Amino acid sequence: MNMKLVLAGLSIVMAATSASAYDLKGNMHQLNDDLMNLQSGFIMGKKEMVKEAATNLTKHSQDLFRSETYIKNKLPKGKEHLATVAMNTSHQIDENLKIMLDVLDDNTKRLIAQRSLFGVTQACIQCHNVVRDW
Ligand code: HEC
Repeated sequence: MNMKLVLAGLSIVMAATSASAYDLKGNMHQLNDDLMNLQSGFIMGKKEMVKEAATNLTKHSQDLFRSETYIKNKLPKGKEHLATVAMNTSHQIDENLKIMLDVLDDNTKRLIAQRSLFGVTQACIQCHNVVRDW
């Protein structure tokens, strides 16, 4: 077999692997920034900030968890089988953000909006629990 070809193939595989690990980290930090902004919006009582952060988090989460195959390739080595868990928890993120945005303008439903913040946070942590065995 042509050694140069093998080496070229190997470096492509290695580049692809490190690129995907880096991508997930970047995506996760983006989700975390959105979640921090969301929480700040609630703590400071700024509805517009909540709306913007919830919209951004929905967009970034849907983009990352677009399909089981897509996320499977981004999960750490040996954790690929958790793609189904990833999709389920990402639906929880979506659902809670949808509820939050739906009730946000109605002050009588304040508690529902606030509970959905915990629902989102819980979904993030649940997926991490499974991935990290913590
Ligand atoms: C697939 C399920 C899954 C979901 C859902 C998920 N994460 Fe993660 N997250 C991971 C994995 C996998 C890692 C990388 C491995 C690790 O850190 O143990 C990670 C890592 C992180 C990190 C650390 C990145 C680093 O530099 O090490 C942060 C911050 C983070 N996630 C935030 C969030 C937030 C915020 C949410 C919810 C909006 C969320 N994640 C939802 C799977 C998930």
